[in-house]
Amino acid sequence: FHVPPAVNEPVKSYAPGTPEREEALATYKEMFNQKMDIPLYIGDQQIKTGKTRNMHPPHDHKHDLGVFHLAEKSHIETAIEEALKAREKWAKLPWEQRAAVFLKAADLIAGPYRQRLNAATMIGQSKNIYQAEIDSACEIIDFLRFNVEYMTQIYDEQPESDEKAWNRVEYRPLEGFVYAITPFNFTAIAGNLPSSAALMGNVVVWKPSSTQMFSAQVLMEVFQEAGVPDGVINMVMGDPAMITDTVLKSPDFAGVHFTGSTGVFQNIWAEIGKNINNYKTYPRIVGETGGKDFIVAHPSANPKEVSTAISRGAFEFQGQKCSAASRCYIPNSMWNEVKSYVEEDLKSFKMGSPEDMSNFITAVIDEKAFDKLASYIDQAKQDEDAEVIMGGGYDKSKGYFIEPTVILTTNPKYTTMETELFGPVVTIYVYEDEKYEETLHLVNETSIYALTGAILSKDRYAASLATEILQNAAGNFYINDKPTGAVVGRQPFGGARASGTNDKAGSKLNLLRWVSPRLIKETF
Ligand code: ALA
Repeated sequence: FHVPPAVNEPVKSYAPGTPEREEALATYKEMFNQKMDIPLYIGDQQIKTGKTRNMHPPHDHKHDLGVFHLAEKSHIETAIEEALKAREKWAKLPWEQRAAVFLKAADLIAGPYRQRLNAATMIGQSKNIYQAEIDSACEIIDFLRFNVEYMTQIYDEQPESDEKAWNRVEYRPLEGFVYAITPFNFTAIAGNLPSSAALMGNVVVWKPSSTQMFSAQVLMEVFQEAGVPDGVINMVMGDPAMITDTVLKSPDFAGVHFTGSTGVFQNIWAEIGKNINNYKTYPRIVGETGGKDFIVAHPSANPKEVSTAISRGAFEFQGQKCSAASRCYIPNSMWNEVKSYVEEDLKSFKMGSPEDMSNFITAVIDEKAFDKLASYIDQAKQDEDAEVIMGGGYDKSKGYFIEPTVILTTNPKYTTMETELFGPVVTIYVYEDEKYEETLHLVNETSIYALTGAILSKDRYAASLATEILQNAAGNFYINDKPTGAVVGRQPFGGARASGTNDKAGSKLNLLRWVSPRLIKETF
């Protein structure tokens, strides 16, 4: 199986004076004033139902970005029919042809679509340019290219044969269609969830997040220009409960590729259980859900490195990463130093529109997220066992701005040590140095989720102890780093417990979920 070698797409710097910075800014300005009118993509049709929802940038919520159209139940039924119709040819297409389409998509994003996708992500999801570049350019490109390589590795895995019997495995697509549900926070995930299933020969009904529609539309344009045939990836928007209910009632539903909240995923799982007798095949259930990701510092760690892990791990993209550091355990002997470094970092973080590229912090995604975060901050201001020691301000008059906020608690089980907030709020618990091991057990026992976590330690025995005690507390475990920023091809990403099925995005393991292998034994 010969394919172009997958290498990680280099991240552009966007430093002042670089051509990419000028281009990104110009594209931002041009796209900010577009009025979108985003249709459903079903089969070869782009459908404008006339029932629409308005779009606004989170950092400037009075600005009108246009609308996207909403599906009725009948549209979802048609999307399923069109997907199944497309399957007749797509599932039989030689793998090279499928691979070529997605390699072309990667190439389009690396080139002509790069700044369009970045700008759509900056405007629609309020990412700063540096975070947009990592997400909506490099990570999608990496997913597309590495998945092609992983696909060939899968196809290459064949059983033993001998002169009397030839055993071969065909990695066939699932019998039916795949439902992809994607979140607002990573354009890369929106690109990966439908395309990885489609690469393996499946057809997809894709429901993007209603707060990610600007970049979802650009992704759909990329897929079309790359030559993904009509009906292979159908994009539908509308009432999520109606869409999911219609999809899960179809006897041809063959799998769900999900990233989003734990609650929604659990409901989908339960619904699948209720419908189980109706399906032609047991559906694949693949989900990446919530997190309550930790940083533990050992007394031997470098305080500056600990503070950087906190500041970047907790506040990049306003903490709206499932991997974001949101609870930290810092030894008493180091706390004052770590605290002053974090204070310095927060002073240097400018907050505002992503259009001003010196802004590091922008707005959170919507009013619901804003109100939730504000209420937890207010509660912490009142609670006896918590104190807001940095930030704590918020303002939604123009955009949904929440200051990067640090809560200090004396209670390791304080609400914000256990509840996922999904925003720029981190909670710190300071432990007595001699209670390091006890603290590791505490972290493990309070990990309902198990997505990411980090240990910072110069002491190898201490790092090893953490690796051992926290073995089930994080699917992605980082030693001497922040718990965010997994790179495709290097750190396959995903977690267990309430964080998901741990089918590592951007890995062979994930692609294997989208095939139904047939063994053929032929005797001579
Ligand atoms: N893959 C993203 C990260 O690691 C979520 O931060």
